[in-house]
Amino acid sequence: MFTITPKHIFIALCTLFLIYSSFIYNQPSIHSKNKIFHQKRAGEGKLVWQKYNCQSCHQLYGLGGYLGPDLTNIYSNPQKGEVVIRAMLESGTRQMPSFKLKEDEVLSLLEFLKSADASGRADPREFKVNELGLTEPNEN
Ligand code: HEC
Repeated sequence: MFTITPKHIFIALCTLFLIYSSFIYNQPSIHSKNKIFHQKRAGEGKLVWQKYNCQSCHQLYGLGGYLGPDLTNIYSNPQKGEVVIRAMLESGTRQMPSFKLKEDEVLSLLEFLKSADASGRADPREFKVNELGLTEPNEN
């Protein structure tokens, strides 16, 4: 008669693990579409971000200062994007200083914000977890 030994359970778990892994690795990444950015420029932009201490008032993925809004996904926001970022840096508001950055610094900073945007969504309400445990955009 067939009896289930720990060895059988081990083999079954390994098989399930391999099947699950193959499903995961064959899923297209939702973040890889239309998200091409210049790596070196983005790196320089991060230094600009640090030099002017944007993080003291703004957040990336909800972490940072809370005087200004989260900027993780501002780049792809259809109501904001590059135009608003440039305008804010140039003019500022009563609460945000105008930075008068050099064009080169602005371009690097834009690339950094683009790369931050490409890394995912900051607002957890914007995605749901599917049956494989992966995140995908929330249609609602
Ligand atoms: C002293 C705090 C402070 C610093 C430092 C600061 N900001 Fe801001 N920023 C704000 C505040 C406050 C707002 C919201 C302004 C408003 O709505 O009147 C804002 C708004 C913005 C917006 C528009 C956001 C939106 O959703 O409309 C952008 C883009 C922005 N900041 C970029 C930057 C960048 C880039 C840096 C660094 C170079 C920076 N900020 C540094 C306080 C700051």
